[in-house]
Amino acid sequence: TILVLDFGSQYTHLITRRLRELSIYSEMLPCTQRLSELGWKPKGVILSGGPYSVYAEDAPHVDPEVFNLDVPILGICYGLQELAWNHGKNVLAGDKREYGHSGLKIQRHSGKQAHVDRLFEGLHDDMEVWMSHGDKLSHMPDGFLTVATTPNSPYAGIAHEEKEYYGIQFHPEVTHTPQGKEVIENFAVKICKAKQDWTMEAFVDKEIARIRKLVGEEGQVLGAVSGGVDSTVAAKLMHEAIGDRFHAVMVDNGVMRQDEAKQVKETLTKGLGVNLTVVDASERFLGLLKGVSDPEKKRKIIGNTFIEIFEEEAKKIAKEAENSPRAGPINFFLQGTLYPDVIESISFKGPSQTIKTHHNVGGLPEKMNLKLIEPLRELFKDEVRAMGTNLGIPSDLVWRHPFPGPGIAIRIIGEVTPDKVRIVQEADKIFIEEIRNAGLYRDISQAFAALMDGKSVGVVGDQRLHGHIIALRAVVTTDFMTANYYRFDYDFMDKVINRIGNEVHGVARVLYEMTSKPPSTIEFE
Ligand code: XMP
Repeated sequence: TILVLDFGSQYTHLITRRLRELSIYSEMLPCTQRLSELGWKPKGVILSGGPYSVYAEDAPHVDPEVFNLDVPILGICYGLQELAWNHGKNVLAGDKREYGHSGLKIQRHSGKQAHVDRLFEGLHDDMEVWMSHGDKLSHMPDGFLTVATTPNSPYAGIAHEEKEYYGIQFHPEVTHTPQGKEVIENFAVKICKAKQDWTMEAFVDKEIARIRKLVGEEGQVLGAVSGGVDSTVAAKLMHEAIGDRFHAVMVDNGVMRQDEAKQVKETLTKGLGVNLTVVDASERFLGLLKGVSDPEKKRKIIGNTFIEIFEEEAKKIAKEAENSPRAGPINFFLQGTLYPDVIESISFKGPSQTIKTHHNVGGLPEKMNLKLIEPLRELFKDEVRAMGTNLGIPSDLVWRHPFPGPGIAIRIIGEVTPDKVRIVQEADKIFIEEIRNAGLYRDISQAFAALMDGKSVGVVGDQRLHGHIIALRAVVTTDFMTANYYRFDYDFMDKVINRIGNEVHGVARVLYEMTSKPPSTIEFE
């Protein structure tokens, strides 16, 4: 296991991700971790980047015991400065911020010093790297040699003459440093000799053990599920860990896909064994949405009502939990937050406090005095999918396209009515069915049907029809920040449009939306 000590950089999780890609176990802990409390010995230690200057009064510092562990250490960015600061004072200059690409030149050594080059073994002498730092080294710390430079930093890479300590100013963990993974591999595999035996299976077991320890023998956990990948994987993991002491709640808001509540119930309870309560509140939601056409108002109504209903249900479950003979009170709230969700809400508040997240269901955990449990918070989407597969979740669900919380309500331009919801649900079902039949589902990132505002004239049989206008949307994207429309062939389009015309009552026209994001968004509202 490699120990990653986190100094608060937004890239720290990428270090653990790269290590997992190399099949290496790593444990990420706050930089202030007392090493005597660790209980195990790492094969090597990585000190991450961070937003501080090591000279700042409240700057976090590593437990000096790290230098008595007798294991290799790699300092990245702030980690390099921390390493240097511990090997001679006044080694830093905080003059210029550097952010962006830079060219790294590797300096090779010979004879007795050749071992200091091991971090860059097998790599080209010139490599592109990503910089993001304030302070940089101005003098060489005691006992170190230069192993790499950039035009701006004469000490962009340093290595200790005797000990296996390495420091680099650039970030090897980001993809903007194309050979960064090799640098991490050289450190972890060649220098630390870490075993490459990480598997998703073993990771799941470890997570389950961790959840059990955290929740205790009697503790109970509450969580919301939506039918999406993340909440399903998180729920299944909780179920594996603590069985029925995990209580999942799904609120049917009436603007989900056709039969979705029924299907989620079926999959989660019968298929996966999760203890799930489905609250059918569709009438309440649709009632509140009546006459509302402003998209932000729709979102607010759905969000607030969700919290109200969830809270009502949570109270009921908590009361029942109090009376259950073999279990204690509910003390945790599950959240299926992934690392990309966490990334922007991280705050680092000095040595005594580690990382905090602010994501939660409308402050519900605080209101109910529940602690958060986030078993997926270190993972990326593709890793969550791999975990889902490992946990036996059906592949249809594991690969499901994302679906927004406000659901179909933001796919109906203008007022939401039960009839419009029905039309969108039926058209959507046909569109997705045909996409699946054509084997295109995984090539597309998100696809759905939406409804335009107003009506249009069509003809059915001999009759003129004043009917609704469906718009189909299918996009390809990696990050959902930008997206392109998917290029279906005309035969496929014919089939879908014919089916919608024939099978969905009240539709006069079907359009295919071909605007990219930007300028358009993926959803219609
Ligand atoms: P846009 O429409 O902003 O969508 O291009 C980008 C991604 O975000 C999803 N989305 C939402 N998800 N609540 C959600 O839970 C929302 O209000 C919401 N709006 C958009 C959208 O489905 C797409 O994946």
